[in-house]
Amino acid sequence: MKIDNLFNIQDKVAIVTGGSRGIGEMIAAGFLANGAKVYISARKAPALVDKAKELSDKYNQECIPISCDLSSMNGIEEFTNEIQNKEKGIDFLINNAGAAWGEPLESFSEGGWDKVMDLNVKSLFFLTQKFKNLLLNNASVEDPSRVINIGSIDGLNVPSMETYSYGASKAAVHHLTRVLAAKLVKENILVNAIAPGPYPSAMLGSAVNHDYSEIAKRNPRKRVGTPEDMAGLAIFLCSRAGAYTVGETITSDGGIVKTASHNLS
Ligand SMILES: NC(=O)c1ccc[n+]([C@@H]2O[C@H](COP(=O)([O-])OP(=O)(O)OC[C@H]3O[C@@H](n4cnc5c(N)ncnc54)[C@H](OP(=O)(O)O)[C@@H]3O)[C@@H](O)[C@H]2O)c1
Repeated sequence: MKIDNLFNIQDKVAIVTGGSRGIGEMIAAGFLANGAKVYISARKAPALVDKAKELSDKYNQECIPISCDLSSMNGIEEFTNEIQNKEKGIDFLINNAGAAWGEPLESFSEGGWDKVMDLNVKSLFFLTQKFKNLLLNNASVEDPSRVINIGSIDGLNVPSMETYSYGASKAAVHHLTRVLAAKLVKENILVNAIAPGPYPSAMLGSAVNHDYSEIAKRNPRKRVGTPEDMAGLAIFLCSRAGAYTVGETITSDGGIVKTASHNLS
């Protein structure tokens, strides 16, 4: 019952897509700080390689960069093949890489629809399919392998911005999480989702000019999310403590989704 046992992820092998910054970096840092080996991926190689070195040095732990574009099947195959050449098994797959697109309904483009759906939904599905064997190799009844899909509160609430494909893609992520959880729990792979609220990142920052003060003021907790909030939840889901939690979509949003109706009245 000691914390060291309940939340232990020492020597586990993790993959965090989109780990070069933002929420992916927060999760990668939490894993590294607690003794896991972490592969991070992103398209822009220089930033990715620099981040892997920074995190390896900071936590004295192996962080390996693999640059790839996960929005195409070719990119997904290159990425999964490269990991297969390096590892016999993996413990955690964190499907985090995602994109957003905003445009008025009347002019919303096919490109903005496909970009978001391809990365947020299609790529997450095929990454899980192609990593299944490596996850299986490290999975047991006592210590199942884990998949965490990063959804969004925009897939639970109706978003205030005109991000039609984004909200729909994240609702799909949450449902796909349940569908995949039902299939894979029988094989000792546990699938859950995290639905973040506002976390400082390039994605959210570009929507608010990197000024989070208004968002913080409106949040029930009067702040945005921190790396500790995100890493702590991911570690819970990946450790012994989370081994009976299956198919859930857990919000990490300061209470936006669950207290919205109370705060309106
Ligand atoms: N921040 C928030 O408030 C918030 C709230 C709810 C949900 N989320 C979700 O959290 C996840 C991470 O978002 P974030 O806010 O941390 O965004 P971010 O700062 O923009 O980071 C996105 C990451 O994904 C990578 N990426 C983007 N397109 C890619 C592609 N085609 N192939 C491979 N990697 C790609 C980026 O690197 P490159 O650009 O170099 O490829 C980067 O590492 C997303 O799924 C997002 O929807 C975020």
